Amino acid sequence: MRSVRSMKDPDGELLIPPGALVVLIGAAGSGKSTFAASRFPGESILSSDALRARLGAGENDQTVTRAAFALLHRLLDGRLASGRPTVVDATNVTIRARASLLKIAHRHGAPAVAVILELPVDLVVSRNAARAERVVPEGAVRRQIAELGRAGDDQLRHEGFAIVRRLRSAADVAAIRVLISDRR
Ligand code: CTP
Ligand code: MG
Repeated sequence: MRSVRSMKDPDGELLIPPGALVVLIGAAGSGKSTFAASRFPGESILSSDALRARLGAGENDQTVTRAAFALLHRLLDGRLASGRPTVVDATNVTIRARASLLKIAHRHGAPAVAVILELPVDLVVSRNAARAERVVPEGAVRRQIAELGRAGDDQLRHEGFAIVRRLRSAADVAAIRVLISDRR
């Protein structure tokens, strides 16, 4: 049930500006793909795992990571060039990963939105462990969470994100309404 606060709270809405780059940021198991699928049209989502599966032996095939990200960057470039709002579903916990996306957005004058899924560590770790299809080693998940701790709001704005929205609980994620502006 939604609380009175969340119903009144303008923070419960996230307005995506026209032609924006939306960067999901969160450890494996934080719910990025679930969030993307429930809020954005499928064709607007570029997922590194989906591209790994298309280029390699499956979502977990690390041997095609470079190729998957090269393709993701090309697809992002093409979409932003024609003003299509685009969501990047990858962990994006490092400055370097985000910088390559922001560079492409900057090239096209696309505003950048960061959505950080910073859920309680125990929840993220247990969701990851409970997955049937693809469990990421717990140490890797904890390293990603530690990295995320360095991505504060000021840091993300400094990197070039115009809008920074941090979701700290499953309730925050469930409550947020995403409004995608299609005026260009
Ligand atoms: N999950 C859940 N309830 C939610 C969100 C996610 O139970 N509100 C579950 C999903 O069904 C999945 C797991 O948590 O089994 C991880 O969610 P997923 O969206 O796959 O997380 P990602 O952040 O996309 O993880 P990865 O980086 O590994 O792709
Ligand atoms: Mg995912």
